[in-house]
Amino acid sequence: MIRTPPAMRALHPGDAVAVAMAARASLCADVIVGLSQARKSIPCKYLYDAAGAALFEGICQTPEYYPTRTELALLRKHAGDIAACAGGGVNLIEFGSGSSAKARILLDALPRASSYTPIDIALPGLLAEADALRSDYPALRVVPICADFTETVALPESIAGERRVGFFPGSTIGNFTPGEAGAFLRRAATMLGNDSLLIVGVDLRKDQRLLDAAYNDAAGITAAFNLNLLRRLNRELRANFDLAAFSHGAHYNAAQARVEMHIYSLAFQTVRVDGRLFSFTSGESIHTENSHKYSVTEFQALAGANGFRPLHCWTDAANLFSLHCLVTTAIH
Ligand code: AVI
Repeated sequence: MIRTPPAMRALHPGDAVAVAMAARASLCADVIVGLSQARKSIPCKYLYDAAGAALFEGICQTPEYYPTRTELALLRKHAGDIAACAGGGVNLIEFGSGSSAKARILLDALPRASSYTPIDIALPGLLAEADALRSDYPALRVVPICADFTETVALPESIAGERRVGFFPGSTIGNFTPGEAGAFLRRAATMLGNDSLLIVGVDLRKDQRLLDAAYNDAAGITAAFNLNLLRRLNRELRANFDLAAFSHGAHYNAAQARVEMHIYSLAFQTVRVDGRLFSFTSGESIHTENSHKYSVTEFQALAGANGFRPLHCWTDAANLFSLHCLVTTAIH
């Protein structure tokens, strides 16, 4: 699906209603399919309604969740190195931009950047952040695109010409399976074009105890984030999940090199979702998220097989997180 960037045409009053109806239909279809499987699952993108996004910001502040602060430190330390790799006039394109806070670190190091294209599905936040960036960086062309970055997105003609630098921070790539991550990289390489860079944050393999703690924080914010999904289904799909009858759990699956997040049923129970009934045995789970971890060489091999050549990789002293600088190869 390719959506016209809101900056490139006038928004009609019906747009918001049509977008909301399509979003509800997708949520409903995906949840019904996911809960009908022998192993129940719901795609992790549905964790991020407004409350879920706010809870995720809270997770990033917990002492146990090291990825955000470690990646921010890496970006601050190596923004100059990234700018040196990028060269002169640059078009910065961010996949899943959110608050654009990390992009600002790069923009501050790229004084000659000519444009910034944030791609995000959440239209109100995207437009508000675009306005803030225009006032903070008056010389920068800000060209927001409202789209699902996991699908092919047409980049506007207005950013043709100068070098494109893609930016995909946060180890969001870890929320894809390795196969999906490879497909994303391939699509990104095609979108960005020859001799473009991609800066991507990737969480590293590490001691299982650190991972288990990061996804089961003592303050219970990750638990609230996970269980908020049921609250969302109650509200948006007329479901009747009793939140007290389910619990959060996350654990490292060493065979798959990923942290799995689940919602466990605490009893035998039947739940109604959009008029359909789903039974849960005691201890049965809904699998809500995977967070894959890579060694530097594993990720470089994945990138190498999917349209990119590794140029640089920066890691912190404790080897918690990696920041890769990749360049597109000629064959897409
Ligand atoms: C957004 N994503 C990279 C986070 C992660 O670490 O996989 C989501 C998250 N889920 C629980 N805690 C954080």
